[in-house]
Parts: sequence; C-alpha cells; structure tokens
Amino acid sequence: MSLARPILLPPDEAGIARAAEILREGGLVAFPTETVYGLGADATNDTAVARIFEAKGRPRFNPLIVHVADRAAAETIAEFGDTARRLADAFWPGPLTLVLPLKPGAGISPLVSAGLDSVAIRMPDHPLARKLLSTSGRPVAAPSANPSGKLSPTAAAHVVEGLDGRIEAVLDGGTCPVGLESTIVGLLPEPTLLRPGGLPAEAIEKCLGAPLAQHQGSDTPNAPGQLASHYAPDALMRLDAEKAQEGEVLLGFGALEGALNLSASGDLVEAAANLFHHLRALDSMGTGRIAVAPIPDHGLGRAINDRLRRAAAPRDG
Ligand code: TXA
Ligand code: MG
Repeated sequence: MSLARPILLPPDEAGIARAAEILREGGLVAFPTETVYGLGADATNDTAVARIFEAKGRPRFNPLIVHVADRAAAETIAEFGDTARRLADAFWPGPLTLVLPLKPGAGISPLVSAGLDSVAIRMPDHPLARKLLSTSGRPVAAPSANPSGKLSPTAAAHVVEGLDGRIEAVLDGGTCPVGLESTIVGLLPEPTLLRPGGLPAEAIEKCLGAPLAQHQGSDTPNAPGQLASHYAPDALMRLDAEKAQEGEVLLGFGALEGALNLSASGDLVEAAANLFHHLRALDSMGTGRIAVAPIPDHGLGRAINDRLRRAAAPRDG
C-alpha cells in the first residue's frame, strides 16, 4: 500500500474518515497530537506495526505508545490500579503516558511492547487525534513521526520531509501546541519517571503526594530498547544456523525451513510481524534450544538481528 508521496489529508470529517479507513486497512497515517506528530498504525495488526519500524528505519524494536480515545478503551488494554486511575483522572487527556501491566488477551501486537508484559498507553488531548481514534475504533500504536535519530515533527510538513514515500497519509493539523513528547511514568508498580516531557514531573508528584522514583540504569530514558527487562525466551538461542542440531528447533527464514518460518518468501516486514509470536511458540515447545536461520542485515533485518542478539546474549541464572 506504499505511495510515492503521503497524501495530506485535510482536518475535516472527510480527512478523518479517510485516515481512519487507512488505519483499519493496515496502513500508516501520521496524525497530530498535542505533543508531536505520531506515526500511527493499528496496534492490533502485527504487519502494520512492523511497517512503523520499517518506515522509521529504526535499527531496533523500541516499544511503542498505544493511543486510545477514552478510558474505557485504555482499561481493556492495561491493568489500572488506584495510582494509575488517579493519574489518568487528573491528566488525561493530555501529555502523560502510563506504563502499566498489559492485559493478557487484549489483542495488542507483541511488537508494540517488544514482547514485554507491560504497555505504554496514553489518551492524547488533540481534537483531531481523538476524533481519529474514536472513528477508527482501534488502539493506535504511534512513535513520533520522524525517521530514526531525527527530531520529532511538530508540523505536517516535517513529517512529509522525513517520511516521504514510506507512509500512506498525513492528517494535517497544523502545529502541535506542546511541541515536546509526553512525560512517561511507569507504574510497575512503583511510580517512576521514565521520560520527562510535556507534563511537568512536579505536577505529577503533587497529584501523587509523593516524589517519583527516577529511572535507574545506564540507559537513557529515550532508549528503553536497551532495558534489561525485555522479553527473552527461556530457551538458549543459536543464531545464523544453517540447520537444527540435535535437541534444537529451527526458526526458519526464506528457503531455510524450520519448525516455524519467520517468512517463507523472505519478506522482512512479515518476519518482524512474526518474530515475537514465533519465539514464544518455539519457547513453549520446551526443547530448551532454538536455532535461528540467518536473517539479512538490512532494513527491518537489522532490528530483527538486534532483537535476536539480545535474546541470545549470555544471561544470569
Ligand atoms: O508524545 C509522545 O509520547 C509521542 C506522541 C506521538 O504520542 N510519542 C512518542 O513515542 O514520543 P516514541 O516512540 O518516540 O517514544 C516512546 C517511548 C520510548 O522511549 C519507548 O521506549 C517508551 O516510550 N516505552 C514504550 N513502551 C514501553 C514499555 N512497555 N516500557 C518502558 N518504556 C516504554
Ligand atoms: Mg521519538
């Protein structure tokens, strides 16, 4: 469904209807929020979410924020405890993202949360974003709508400049009022500031009546792709395998068939969409050893290989 140029959709009923339709068909639509433009895809569609990473040229699968129209939608996806409810009551809709336990069976693609059992979720405060979310009827996964490593876009023209030829459409909502990404607070369960952003941490602390814990570790908050908590299979992993050895199950790619194949046709978007599903499925077969066929190290293959290397890295215990 790729187009030479993204269509600029007008900020009216017809534009919103078309943007919602593209999302439901598995396409990518950039849309304005009060913080920055997001690059949206149906969060329940593995292939659509894989295409986000392809479009951004992200070398790794950082987990994405799920955007919802209302609290009811949010509560079907994430577990809300008392603290989460209090923060959502106070600051939603608005530039606050909550990282909460993911509800099993919520239907969110595992690629959205990089296989984690948590999910980042927010209700944006922008009339077009809210209308788009309610019209599409889908939770929408959206990172900032810029190529990896570039500045977050705060106008439709920035999006076109960066993602020309890689996405279906941009819903043109003018300039984003906040101009800075959302503040991210983790509640797993201790309230922790994961990323400072458009909502001042002081306002959150005032609402909680307690200071936020600060994100510890060597990672910068913007690179939780490196968080040690990422899903790793229980099985030992061997990469670049030409075939399974005794006691291994092979995760195939292209012509190299295995117990499961990431993509028989060698399509890296399809492979990314299948990655976490297949790893979990092979893991649950209980052989304890997974061999993985070589994956080309370009485009989405780089993100897949990054993820596989992390999964294969030596671990404690
Ligand atoms: O304002 C914003 O937040 C914008 C608009 C589009 O909503 N979005 C945005 O997304 O800034 P992105 O992908 O550029 O940043 C999302 C951040 C990343 O640092 C990611 O690692 C973190 O959220 N994140 C997502 N899910 C997470 C999780 N389960 N645990 C920890 N961090 C998570
Ligand atoms: Mg970003």
